[in-house]
Amino acid sequence: MATPHITAAEGEIAPLVLMPGDPRRAARIAEEFLADAKLVSDVRGIPCFTGIYEGVPMSVMASGMGVPSISIYATELYRFYGVKRIIRVGTAGAIQPKVRVRDVIVSTASHSNSSAHGLMIPGLTVSFAPTFDLLRAAVAAAEQITDVTVHVGPTYCSDHFYFSQPGWIQGLADLGTLAVEMEAVGLYGAAMREGREALVVLTASDHLLDAAGDMTAEERETSFRNMVTIAARALIS
Ligand code: HPA
Repeated sequence: MATPHITAAEGEIAPLVLMPGDPRRAARIAEEFLADAKLVSDVRGIPCFTGIYEGVPMSVMASGMGVPSISIYATELYRFYGVKRIIRVGTAGAIQPKVRVRDVIVSTASHSNSSAHGLMIPGLTVSFAPTFDLLRAAVAAAEQITDVTVHVGPTYCSDHFYFSQPGWIQGLADLGTLAVEMEAVGLYGAAMREGREALVVLTASDHLLDAAGDMTAEERETSFRNMVTIAARALIS
């Protein structure tokens, strides 16, 4: 069995998938979090590894950047490989003063300028949100980790990294939006269409409204490990 973008054989991808944007990060997560990780697909340099996390089969596959890219991989995993749960583990730009660089964000809803809204049911604005069991499990997992600040709330999924209308980011911040990223709507939309589960967990890698300092290498490491631990525990819950 293969799809246009995944060449794993049937049964080689686990029902639980962690999905970072970056292919190198996928390899690192597989190395650090999975036992017996095996590369099962590598089309276009987008790797999928399958191994064992705390006794449970789990895969890690990169999504690439942006809504179209993650939509393709998430849809093919749900529809053709029987995947039940995908959690995106990515980075985001913070847009609230209370969200500091390296904090973890659990996305409870995704505002967006993506065309995905209009495509779900033409004429309607559909809400893009995670599925509740994963959301609840991630918040519970986050409460067990003491060296990280976790924010739970809405995020913004932008189709543009280098373009934004004046006032958009401040307007979103005024509505309580926590951070900006570029994939949530693609994942939440695919999960809705395919009737499966999805969640987005993020680390604030930079701050758009506040000249906050960059993360040190050590902070980056701790924050990344905390985010992946929260997501992996939620997946097996
Ligand atoms: N915009 C969009 N996506 C991002 C950003 C940003 O500023 N930072 C990290 N991911």
